Amino acid sequence: MIPFSPPRIDQKIIDEVVDTLKSGWISTGPKTKLFEKKLTEYYGSKSTLCLNSATAGLELMLRWFGVGEGDEVIVPAYTYCATANVVMHCGAKPVMVDVGLDFNISVTEIEKAITEKTKVIIPVDFSGFPCDYDEISALVSRADMVNKFKATTNEQKLLGRILILSDSAHSIGAVYKGKRMGSVTDISVFSFHAVKNLTTAEGGAVAMNLPHPFDNQEIYRTLCIKSLHGQNKDALAKFKKGEWRYDVVEAGYKFNMTDIQASIGLVELARYESETLIKRKKIFESYSKALSRFQWAQIPVFSTPEKTSSFHVYPLRIRKIKEKQRNEIISGISDFDVAVNVHFPPLPMLSFYKNAGYQMDLFPVTWDNYSREISLPVFFDLSRNQLKTVIQALVKSVQKVLG
Ligand SMILES: Cc1ncc(COP(=O)(O)O)c(C=O)c1O
Repeated sequence: MIPFSPPRIDQKIIDEVVDTLKSGWISTGPKTKLFEKKLTEYYGSKSTLCLNSATAGLELMLRWFGVGEGDEVIVPAYTYCATANVVMHCGAKPVMVDVGLDFNISVTEIEKAITEKTKVIIPVDFSGFPCDYDEISALVSRADMVNKFKATTNEQKLLGRILILSDSAHSIGAVYKGKRMGSVTDISVFSFHAVKNLTTAEGGAVAMNLPHPFDNQEIYRTLCIKSLHGQNKDALAKFKKGEWRYDVVEAGYKFNMTDIQASIGLVELARYESETLIKRKKIFESYSKALSRFQWAQIPVFSTPEKTSSFHVYPLRIRKIKEKQRNEIISGISDFDVAVNVHFPPLPMLSFYKNAGYQMDLFPVTWDNYSREISLPVFFDLSRNQLKTVIQALVKSVQKVLG
């Protein structure tokens, strides 16, 4: 079986995890702090907080900004459920909008969806390809949009506009106009889940880049407290001689990353540019080269003069087919022992959101993208022979279904 996206677990990772286990410090400690520092240097943000998932990071930032009942948060209809679930957790309303042909949130649709209740936009860098950030940023800074924005918390007053909270779960290492994601928008939240380009088994990071007059270091300290039960001292600080006393200043969360996770991340990050991204790009290029001779293959765009993907997901679309045919093609591929995937069943198709009144037919581009999409396997250890097998399985299956 050719798997879809297994992690790269080699001796280096194992040695680093063993080193952590032997150190006796297995929860949040020196390696997590080092990982935060290295991530900050890598993408050039003002600060970084590591957590146990991207979901935790997104929710933490919504809470930090004071998003709650009566507020609206704009999200694409085409994303993983985490993007909208965190809005529900806060008691606010996810306002779904359609995407464009590049799978990413449409700025025109965002503009139509903004109301006086809008507090945050969560653009999702689908498959690792950055959204139209200059356009989104220009939109929220426009005088009429700033006038519409009703600030109710200190953070909202300080920002004075809608917050751009990027769901960068897929896009670590992606580049937008010469800058890596993490340094492009107010906040970017990365995922280090097992299937991601850079994994820590489970994990995530919040990259902060808030404009003046915010102090991103100060916010980092606030978030450390917020993500650890509201405790004003973490385990590392309490470990110091005579420092057992602590206070709890709010009913915070339990979102922290452990040093076991961070040790995997440190190895992954050190070889991310020099090995991981190079290999993933090569796989993308090989798929595109092999498939571009077929009329039915709609090749994804992963590089433009302004944007470079992180090559997370290879989202192929098959031209002029219906959802049912796409599903048949996938079945056919699995008969060749090749695992493919669909990113994603759009949110309005999922029972919870459907029952809440979201309607799939309001998002025609999302539907069209989804109904024709097949994500091909991309992982570091994918061999040339495996790649050939994937392509053969795909081609044979498409030809069988299309006749
Ligand atoms: C677009 C998107 N956002 C958020 C998440 C959540 O990431 P995590 O599993 O780290 O919470 C995922 C996970 O797959 C995702 O694909």
